[in-house]
Amino acid sequence: MDKQDIMFAIMNVEEFPTLPQIITKIIDACEDEQVTVDDLAKIISNDPSICARILKLANSAYYGYLRKVNTISKAITILGFETIKTLSISASVFDSFKKIRSNYNFNRCQFWLHSIGTATICKVICRHIHNHDVEVVFLVGLLHDIGKLFFESYYEPQFEEVMKLVTVNRCSIYDAESQVFGVTHDEVGGWLTERWKFPLDLVNPIQYHHDVKSCPEEYAQFAAMVQVADHICRIHNIGSGGDNLIPQIDPAALEILGLTMQDVDDISNKVTDEKENIFTFMAIMD
Ligand SMILES: [Fe+2]
Ligand SMILES: [Fe+2]
Repeated sequence: MDKQDIMFAIMNVEEFPTLPQIITKIIDACEDEQVTVDDLAKIISNDPSICARILKLANSAYYGYLRKVNTISKAITILGFETIKTLSISASVFDSFKKIRSNYNFNRCQFWLHSIGTATICKVICRHIHNHDVEVVFLVGLLHDIGKLFFESYYEPQFEEVMKLVTVNRCSIYDAESQVFGVTHDEVGGWLTERWKFPLDLVNPIQYHHDVKSCPEEYAQFAAMVQVADHICRIHNIGSGGDNLIPQIDPAALEILGLTMQDVDDISNKVTDEKENIFTFMAIMD
């Protein structure tokens, strides 16, 4: 298996995972200051599956609003454009991979729990360091390991080999991917989200979450948050990233965030309160 083949396939092969066009429209609309709540509601109304998820989440304990949210316009007004963008992308990525059958060796439910767990912990870290981009960081966390799902969905025999190496050699899924594919899920996730035309503040941190030092400086905090959140998520045993190892945090990640290991412990202690939220989000997306 050659790295170039995989990159070519992601960028060129029609049948490879595409997201509905509506997602690009929603991303663009959320970034356009001229767009009104009604404009955005009209765009979103074209996708019943996204609508349903937004309404369920807006009414769930995850957001904890007391008043009933029964229209998309109301949801947009209450949750804001950024959160609506996050929810739309989340729903549509869940849907697009749901259509593809799953490998028995790789537990998708555990995979998504790991992803939602990491995303939610990213938010906790983000608030801890007083960074305001909670929605972007949530999405980066949610999609950080999407490359694994891509391998599992489109390169099934090779991915089985990866999972075998993980079990037999007790190595990380990252090392096993590198052996079998010659490329790892972080890089592949970067290519995939690039193909989906996602903004760079999502693409770059996904691509560099295992190599924060190489991440372009303006996105390095996001990449570092994901790495720390992934570590904490594994400590709490929330879902599974494909192997059961707890990788060391790169000291560079802590430096980028201005955190000590004591801070990481403090953040980790807050995670117990977030568990219910993680399961709520999972139940609505799945
Ligand atoms: Fe990863
Ligand atoms: Fe992960």
